[in-house]
Amino acid sequence: VKRVTTNTLVKMKAAGEKISMLTAYDFSFARIMDQAGIDVILVGDSASNVMAGHETTLPITLDQMIYHAASVIRGIKRCLVVVDLPFGTYQSNSEIALASAIRIMKETGAHAIKMEGGAEVIESVKKIVSAGIPVMGHLGLTPQSIYKFGTYSVRAQEKAEADKLKADAKLLQEAGCFALVLEKIPALLAKEVAESLHIPVIGIGAGKYCDGQVLVMHDMLGINTEFKPKFLRQYLNLFELTTEAVKSYIHDVKSGDFPNEKEQY
Ligand code: KIV
Ligand code: NA
Repeated sequence: VKRVTTNTLVKMKAAGEKISMLTAYDFSFARIMDQAGIDVILVGDSASNVMAGHETTLPITLDQMIYHAASVIRGIKRCLVVVDLPFGTYQSNSEIALASAIRIMKETGAHAIKMEGGAEVIESVKKIVSAGIPVMGHLGLTPQSIYKFGTYSVRAQEKAEADKLKADAKLLQEAGCFALVLEKIPALLAKEVAESLHIPVIGIGAGKYCDGQVLVMHDMLGINTEFKPKFLRQYLNLFELTTEAVKSYIHDVKSGDFPNEKEQY
């Protein structure tokens, strides 16, 4: 198998080939996605929400992210695996940021890390890149700053915030990021950023002009049914399918239908 690398993604952008990315947090789903041909798996700190049931991404720890990432790595052969640096493990200074990134690389076997923010984290990005660790940026709606924003509404609709986002995108590219996630911003702003950079821009709720797309697996598989933003396309209703399966199982156990003669020793 030909592995997807950070260079592959930059080449895909140059060739106009769209990049597919999904989140995953465990061995079994990572294996399905890898065998289905996904380009990139993001071990997102959205694990805090969809795996652990927290309201925000803030509580998840570095140890917990490492557990998820190591599990994902054991399931894949081909795709690139990117791991989120969780809240509190890189914001204070670049030495701590590098130490966190090194723990992820050493203890999981993942291929790259992702961190939220622009100018505020640029020294950390440079330090981590200098250590040989590929970094993916993340601008727009950055959930680790949710209490600063106050809402999960569309970001950068006003000129000042759009200008800062464009400047941050340039800074991240110059600092050596191999790709950039743009979350929940106007499609035309994402288009402008994608056209101004040579590194790929991967969007979530950032429109059709991005070089690639990412969704949270629990949202696109319909495991989460409460979260229905306009940008989400749901490919399966796993909530309903699982409910039906569980109800059938309960029925079969209660009725004595399961197990039958062929299902016993
Ligand atoms: O944690 C996550 O799932 C993410 C994606 C939404 C980009 O950061
Ligand atoms: Na994230």
